[in-house]
Amino acid sequence: MTTASHDTVRALEWRDGGLYLLDQRRLPAEVAYRFCPEAGDVAEAITDMVVRGAPAIGVAAAYGAALAASAAWQRHGSGWYAGMAEDMAALRRSRPTAVNLAWALERMQARAAALPADADPGPSLLEEAQAIHEADVAANRRMGRYGAGLIQPCSGVLTHCNTGSLATGGLGTALGVIRTAWAEGRVARVFADETRPWLQGSRLTAWELAADGIPVEVLADGAAAALMATGEVGWAVVGADRIAANGDVANKIGTYAVALAARAHGVGLMVVAPTSTIDPAASSGEDIPIEARDGREVLELGGRRIAPAGEGVGAWNPVFDVTPAGLVDAIVTEQGVAHRPDADGIARLLEARG
Ligand code: MRU
Repeated sequence: MTTASHDTVRALEWRDGGLYLLDQRRLPAEVAYRFCPEAGDVAEAITDMVVRGAPAIGVAAAYGAALAASAAWQRHGSGWYAGMAEDMAALRRSRPTAVNLAWALERMQARAAALPADADPGPSLLEEAQAIHEADVAANRRMGRYGAGLIQPCSGVLTHCNTGSLATGGLGTALGVIRTAWAEGRVARVFADETRPWLQGSRLTAWELAADGIPVEVLADGAAAALMATGEVGWAVVGADRIAANGDVANKIGTYAVALAARAHGVGLMVVAPTSTIDPAASSGEDIPIEARDGREVLELGGRRIAPAGEGVGAWNPVFDVTPAGLVDAIVTEQGVAHRPDADGIARLLEARG
């Protein structure tokens, strides 16, 4: 059996002048890295879900921008800034919902804009990408501490999707809180929704937790409400792909159903995300673009068709949904916690970010 932990699993690694990405589509059966020597490879890997999870795709895109700049310098010399535009656009298009990606690219673009035309921009942009990566690792640790402090000793926790080392640069967001709370003796049982259709819960979250020696019980997404009705769960702890200025939260499809059931059964809903996941330009969830992926992801399982073939059978496959702020009990960021988040609470977090 493969063993790993958040200290040894790296979803992304910069080596040999390029980005190595752990191919998450092949986990848990196989631990294989894909080498991305060019920005276009990174963009393709993000679209194809080789790397996924909002903070991780932001970090990957930042390294992609560094690759774009180096290549543009080699091809265009002092015209490198204009020369990297096409690669930057491809990175920007690679996935639409997680705002961390656009946030990281804007930061890379700003650094690039401040560089001289007559020198190789590669080293400075690599330094910027590494700073984004390191800040994510540090943010994970802070969120872990803030979030764990909200969990009563001996609680059951439910999580959805994968928000761990595979989805970030470090410990994870929601899974970082669960790991920290487990280490502090606050968590009695961890439940992970399987998370159809990509199975991030059963394939990735269970893999990470097992590697850390944290017992996990996987359930079908449709079982979450019944689980919460038993009273075994104190908190549902989830991540986010984009948080609007009013506190609405876009996250993996199924989060909204978890939130509704949590509220109905007196279970707290904790959203854990770095402030780079907040999009002040989205005034509410209605402004958040929701990615729709190929219907085959729903109609097939493991590459085999499970729905009847034929013209009358289609699919509806949005891969994120929006949970209204009113259903969220706490948003935990590296800048602190917004309880019962609203526009003022989100504004305070953004102000603290600076
Ligand atoms: O489609 P994915 O696997 O990229 O979706 C991931 C999620 O929805 C996560 O919950 C979110 O990105 C937070 S990861 C720390």
